[in-house]
Amino acid sequence: MLETDHFLDIDDLATDELHAVLDRAAAIKAGEDDTELPDHTLGMLFEKPSTRTRISFETGMTQLGGHAIFLGPDDIQLGHGEPLSDTSRVLSRYVDAVMARLFDHEDLLEIAEYSDVPVVNGLTDDAHPCQTLADLLTIQEAFGGFEDVQAAWVGDGNNVGQSFVIGAAMVGLDLTVATPDGYGMSEDVLDQAEAIGHPPTVVDDPAEAVADADVVYTDVWISMGQEDQREEKLAAFEGYQVNEELLSDSDAQVMHCLPAHRGEEITHDVLESDRALVWDQAENRLHAQKGLLVELLDA
Ligand code: CP
Ligand code: NVA
Repeated sequence: MLETDHFLDIDDLATDELHAVLDRAAAIKAGEDDTELPDHTLGMLFEKPSTRTRISFETGMTQLGGHAIFLGPDDIQLGHGEPLSDTSRVLSRYVDAVMARLFDHEDLLEIAEYSDVPVVNGLTDDAHPCQTLADLLTIQEAFGGFEDVQAAWVGDGNNVGQSFVIGAAMVGLDLTVATPDGYGMSEDVLDQAEAIGHPPTVVDDPAEAVADADVVYTDVWISMGQEDQREEKLAAFEGYQVNEELLSDSDAQVMHCLPAHRGEEITHDVLESDRALVWDQAENRLHAQKGLLVELLDA
């Protein structure tokens, strides 16, 4: 049973709850926990496209004996002027939980405010906590825990990075962040990590970030909705690509939430190398979210 009603960012969980969700996910993955959610329905609101989030939630609900409904922007009246507050109140009269992928994080807060059932963040412009659950599960599996593991984030201080910074602080994972000037993690996020007591080290130089890293994490430079910033961001991120040259003195493993833009933030060779944890990371979305759903719905 979690204290929180909703999962809007990773620190909606207390630290012991975060570990409990990760352990539950690992047990589900290992076939040691066969908890089900029969007759439960998850409503999935999508303003942006998705491969992993949609398929892992939908498959996860099926595997738990429940059901998920995909609600794209053109499928429901929300896309035709019905307010978020009305949509949320109506949805929560039907379904047992709502997962939403939205642009504006404030819109997610509004959905949560009007929802009588748990709301899960499936990515907003500011945060991607379900990804962080899978990321931490992947690191826990690959390194046997978080103690003495050095992680590096190289690239954009974006939604995936911001939730990862907070999650890393919560589990005590040492993290160095290398972001270009003007594209760092928000001050709020860095303050949250500081308040938790395990803030990242922030540097400019990707080589400095990866020097002692056991695992290097990157994500796209141009996130969904930022397509008009493409030229300026490509210029700003020069030198931040995760490639064999950057990793030449390192045996670090590499993470990416996917989808990847090969040749931009990461090279084809690194993604296809033995360093890449990305396929386990993608699979772990399924297990991590099943762990979250059973904890959130108290099953
Ligand atoms: N990592 C992730 O959220 O992928 P999708 O955009 O495919 O859901
Ligand atoms: N930062 C990326 C993550 C996609 C899963 C985006 O928001 O587009």
